[in-house]
Amino acid sequence: MRHGTIDMAFNEENIGEGKVKGRTTSEIVEAISKKIIDIYGKTIKYYKPVRNPMLMVKELRSRFKLIVPQRIVSLTIAAFLSNRPVLYEGPPGTGKTEIGEAILTLWAGKSSFVLPCSSNYDEYRVIGDFHPLMALRYGFNEESYIPRTILAALVLDTGVLVDEIRRSSEEFQNLLLDIIDKRRIIVPELKAVFKARGQGFQIIFTSNPEDIGQGELSDAFLRRVVRIRFYYPSKELEYEIVKIRTSDINVELPNELLSKMLEVVNMLREKALHKPGPADTVLWATLAKHLALVAGKKVVDVRDVVESAPIALIKREEDTDIVIKTVSELLGASPW
Ligand SMILES: Nc1ncnc2c1ncn2[C@@H]1O[C@H](COP(=O)(O)OP(=O)(O)OP(=O)(O)O)[C@@H](O)[C@H]1O
Ligand SMILES: [Mg+2]
Repeated sequence: MRHGTIDMAFNEENIGEGKVKGRTTSEIVEAISKKIIDIYGKTIKYYKPVRNPMLMVKELRSRFKLIVPQRIVSLTIAAFLSNRPVLYEGPPGTGKTEIGEAILTLWAGKSSFVLPCSSNYDEYRVIGDFHPLMALRYGFNEESYIPRTILAALVLDTGVLVDEIRRSSEEFQNLLLDIIDKRRIIVPELKAVFKARGQGFQIIFTSNPEDIGQGELSDAFLRRVVRIRFYYPSKELEYEIVKIRTSDINVELPNELLSKMLEVVNMLREKALHKPGPADTVLWATLAKHLALVAGKKVVDVRDVVESAPIALIKREEDTDIVIKTVSELLGASPW
């Protein structure tokens, strides 16, 4: 079975409006679309779509607690309007996955799907497949067909965040690009062509180029996507990120302490093997605040910050010394 790509005899034109076992192809498309709504509909939340870049930045902050540079939002929207998929590239913990999912959700006006990539992904796992026992009993028809994420997103007109794309095969990457290009999915066995129903169906890929042990992306793939680079935030921006992300923990983190924490993470970004991303800084501040909270304090003190540092900042054994040294020097106390 081949989906997405046009395979010799199977293209939209010669599929036409035929019949499979007495049902017209549009009845089959209708039946599977209904099945998708039955399966996935209940997990989807509906909102008013937000497609204005400035408004989107505001909504990302107020609804998702995400502080996103205007550049990223505007480029993503421009790509969507050009029917091009987007690739977010950047170091770990810079918000690629969460921001991608939130932008897709705002754009479509409904919950988006997240597909964490794995090397064995193919069309059967992400578009749809026939249930073997049901196919034996009822044949290869809409009864035995199980629609999966990408087909569901196309039918529901919502976005898909394809996370860590470099963990997947090149064939799989090209399949997805093709679907976005043509905005339709073909299931030849069913003689069915599913067409995108609006602009909500979009794909954002994420990739962390510094991650070791992951495949390279092909030139063909990189040429076809709009590549948007993520960087570590400035100190001012990271300060805001930590504040907004920990605001619901009812303990004060004094500004001077937070500034010191940001100095530590920035120094480790230069010196350590695992360079802490804002995700690690947020975890650090969250732990420190909770340490203070369980001790019955109203304000975080330096001990809370220092004691939680190794948990948030040592992600590789080799970094132990540099983390302890940096924390001790900048905060004036050692974790151990
Ligand atoms: N711009 C941001 N605004 C708010 N929170 C952020 C931002 N960037 C990072 N974070 C913090 O990082 C977390 C999300 O990181 P996320 O997993 O999306 O990063 P990533 O770039 O996908 O990382 P990885 O490469 O490891 O997958 C959030 O839960 C939040 O705590
Ligand atoms: Mg991620």
